[in-house]
Amino acid sequence: MMPGDDPEVACPEQSRQATFFAGIVRVPIYLLSLSTMKTVSLIAAGLFCAGLSTSSLAADLKAGGKTAQSCMMCHGDNGLSSMPGTPSLAGQPETYLASQLRQFRDGKRHNEVMNVIAKPLSDADIDNVSAYFAQFEIDLKRR
Ligand code: HEC
Repeated sequence: MMPGDDPEVACPEQSRQATFFAGIVRVPIYLLSLSTMKTVSLIAAGLFCAGLSTSSLAADLKAGGKTAQSCMMCHGDNGLSSMPGTPSLAGQPETYLASQLRQFRDGKRHNEVMNVIAKPLSDADIDNVSAYFAQFEIDLKRR
């Protein structure tokens, strides 16, 4: 058969058979699907919701990375600080970073610089940037 030939014309018998078999197969699948449609759609809905809820809880590392760019001039590349008086953020627990940022933002922890920097951050910004710096693993070595 040449490319572009109509298969219907090239082998009509075969294609009629194929249609017939496809029809036979389709009937039980259809009956099965009627009874399982509800279950399947319930499961699908469940999976969909589970997917939604985990993704809405999970921090957005990409967005966190963007916010983190403005932190690195003081806290160092990837949050590894070499500036006296400025702590490293890399590898600190996410919950600790987030709680400290909320305290800076809400004026419960006092630092002139960090109070100003944390002020405009939303809860999502804080969660994302905390997850970003927390993702790094720190290796301890004796000097
Ligand atoms: C201009 C410099 C500067 C910038 C920019 C900056 N920080 Fe800070 N940050 C500091 C200093 C200084 C401290 C120490 C504050 C203190 O002594 O209480 C600090 C402390 C912190 C702490 C507390 C850490 C700990 O171990 O308790 C967190 C969390 C933090 N910064 C997050 C951030 C984030 C996130 C950004 C970017 C959105 C950022 N900082 C940008 C200077 C900066």
